Amino acid sequence: MVTCSAPGKVYLFGEHAVVYGEPAIACAINLRISTSAKLVSSGKIKIDAMGKRLNCMSEEFKYVCCAAQTIKRLFNTDFGAEISIKSQLPPRQGLGSSAAVTVSTIKALAECLGIDLKNEAVAKIGHQVETAVQGIASPADTFVSSTGGVVLIEQTKTRHLSSLNIPILIGATGIERSTSDVIASVTRLKQTYPTLITNVLSSIGDITRLGTQKLANEDFVGLGELMNINQGLLESIGVSDEALSRLVYASRTAGAFGAKITGAGRGGCMLAITPDENVKKVSQAIAKHDAKVLNTAFSDSGLQTE
Ligand code: MEV
Repeated sequence: MVTCSAPGKVYLFGEHAVVYGEPAIACAINLRISTSAKLVSSGKIKIDAMGKRLNCMSEEFKYVCCAAQTIKRLFNTDFGAEISIKSQLPPRQGLGSSAAVTVSTIKALAECLGIDLKNEAVAKIGHQVETAVQGIASPADTFVSSTGGVVLIEQTKTRHLSSLNIPILIGATGIERSTSDVIASVTRLKQTYPTLITNVLSSIGDITRLGTQKLANEDFVGLGELMNINQGLLESIGVSDEALSRLVYASRTAGAFGAKITGAGRGGCMLAITPDENVKKVSQAIAKHDAKVLNTAFSDSGLQTE
């Protein structure tokens, strides 16, 4: 039995704008998915997720099945496997759970087969898997989940920035949404108001560039301010919603440095960075608005074999 684990992620800055070539900063968090795999002679793929037995027909486990099929195809091999998944990440909430399950499955199966895959190679295969399952996927998710840390994504380039030691509180609304539908709504808005929306997206890019400096200086107040401005621009393109905005405002009032949505928006999660002394107050403020609170931090630890 081989066990590999990989982190989820949040966007500190730049979601949506990154789809149009602007930079973004995504960060691995210390909430992980762990995948255990062993080869079996039946030739079938069986998946046990948190005690629930599933097979390849189960909608939510298509990432795992597609990862197994992709390994078979790329390495010209055939196998059956029992795969068991444990997750600290709520699924379909924009925290990168599909990327984390994909890369941890690829790595665990590769190790079972004696194939040595470096994390960046796993990230690339993982991107193929996500693209096959979703139709469209940003390479950022599998890259951040494989390598960990704080990552600046610029066009096709990625670069690690220095990490931050600061509490992060995530408010998960539990509302599921389709990333591609939210992206399509921004595209429509951009077609209707090309200059206006291009300027908004390019201002988000400016925020990301300023954010890299604030990160380097560990300027939490500045980072919080930029997160708040980023949130205002995300509101303006219609990707926040009432539930998320309520959590964002409640967090700020309770003493967060800054708060914004993370990921596609219109459901899913928001995040707040907060001074240590306000963690309790901000958590309570998020919980009061019926969201699940995840108390986490940035993590340098990417994909690893346990
Ligand atoms: C979704 O998590 C983030 C988006 O920017 C889409 C993407 O980057 O693939 C909305």
